[in-house]
Amino acid sequence: LQLIVCDHYEELSRQAARIVAKQVTNKPTSVIGFATGSTPVGLYQELTKMYQKGEVNFKQIRTFNLDEYVGLDKEHPQSYYRFMWENLFGKVGIEKSQIHFPSGIFQDPVQACNEYESQLKKEGPIDLQILGIGANGHIGFNEPAESFILNTHIIQLADKTIEANARFFRDKSEVPRQAITMGVGNIMNAKKIILLASDKSKAKAVQSVFSSIVDPRVPATILQLHADVSILVTNEVADLLK
Ligand code: F6R
Repeated sequence: LQLIVCDHYEELSRQAARIVAKQVTNKPTSVIGFATGSTPVGLYQELTKMYQKGEVNFKQIRTFNLDEYVGLDKEHPQSYYRFMWENLFGKVGIEKSQIHFPSGIFQDPVQACNEYESQLKKEGPIDLQILGIGANGHIGFNEPAESFILNTHIIQLADKTIEANARFFRDKSEVPRQAITMGVGNIMNAKKIILLASDKSKAKAVQSVFSSIVDPRVPATILQLHADVSILVTNEVADLLK
């Protein structure tokens, strides 16, 4: 595990963008794993700026996102697909055919998960996976549990997560109760992982990743078993790490 302390959110976003751009420049056909949420918005803005200046080109990458809400189709204003399209993909010349997302709309949940698994198998492994972290230590939507689930699966969102994500909806009651997410095994299969944590509410969860105990009740703790993880935090978060 490598800890990278950045002065502030803008610097964290720039550093993360440099890592992503370097990956794409070194290997233009890279498979990149993307996360949604507030934390990577600055990273996506930086990547957009770099693209506009001609410093990076995403023409040949393939993308895989971590998760999607169950019941929201791609065009729903709060879908993660739409989030990625508006915050990055639509701005940097990424074609729809390059994008892979677990489907939030399905008849058969097992089939929906298997479909994403086979896409990951066919196109993967992911060269670089971008992660945020929940205050409860979730990665993707792998919520605290008694055991790890390795593959793509449907989960019940934790109450805390529903509350945290209610800010994107008109009302908490509109937040979907389920999501479809890559499993911990899918994330660990990525060749390189960067985890971004800029809010002090994440400090405790980040601290656990360095605790040398792997515990499915704090899913991010699994990352200490990966050979190439960089954790980018702001000073504000770093100050709370012991
Ligand atoms: C989103 C995802 C989640 C978020 C996490 C942090 O695709 O997988 O694990 O990364 O909930 O969200 P923010 O950045 O909004 O605090």
